[in-house]
Amino acid sequence: MDIILLGPPGAGKGTQAARLVDERGLVQLSTGDMLRAAAKAGTPVGLQAKKVMEAGELVSDAIVSALIGERLDAAEAAGGAIFDGYPRTGAQAEALDLLLAERGRRLDHVIELDVDEQALVDRVTGRFTCAACGEGYHDRYKLPAVAGACDVCGGREFRRRPDDNAATVRTRMAEYRAKTAPILPFYEARGLVRRVDGMASIEKVGASIDAILDGS
Ligand code: AP5
Repeated sequence: MDIILLGPPGAGKGTQAARLVDERGLVQLSTGDMLRAAAKAGTPVGLQAKKVMEAGELVSDAIVSALIGERLDAAEAAGGAIFDGYPRTGAQAEALDLLLAERGRRLDHVIELDVDEQALVDRVTGRFTCAACGEGYHDRYKLPAVAGACDVCGGREFRRRPDDNAATVRTRMAEYRAKTAPILPFYEARGLVRRVDGMASIEKVGASIDAILDGS
């Protein structure tokens, strides 16, 4: 099963993708995570992407589509993938069709997380992750059970993304409206788009996605 999770910054794509990995054995292909890993490793692509990401703008179509193609060829992605943060432009949507067709695959669902952009600024600026295992938290919606210690690994160091500040989030949202939302009709014409209320609780959003994937 190959599915796209679509929605603006903070819509909950990463949260839901991680759950689907745990519960359904799908692979999460997050171009944001891949680019942050490249930036951390200091590769030429990573260093170039770092500046663009910190400005809240989009990295070039060619770079992100090449990253997705590489990961689709890894054995772990053979059973199905969740595209998280990709595609984000018309050119990327066309590239993904081609990448899947070349591998005898095609999209099963495009799930749009429908959200209130104002509330998202709060979600994104309150987000932090465990530095050791990457588990995600939020200042108000999802705190560790024991203050200062990660629920999963017990790590005591946490990180915030440099692009998770209010000004950059607004640029990221403008990019979403201008370049990503317009790809929805491309998938609507093929009857692939299902909308989910992304303002519901994390559990309810998950249940709505499960209902779509299970065809109920
Ligand atoms: P990327 O890493 O993809 O970031 P994004 O799309 O801005 O999405 P986020 O990770 O911010 O949000 P999310 O929807 O995953 O929300 P999350 O689940 O964490 O991209 C970053 C940058 O990389 C881009 O700006 C661009 O520069 C570059 N890039 C990446 N892909 C690219 C591409 N294809 N083309 C070009 N450039 C690209 O949730 C957020 C918070 O809310 C969490 O704390 C979570 O706990 C909480 N939360 C989640 N759901 C709920 C809920 N239902 N109720 C309450 N709280 C919730």
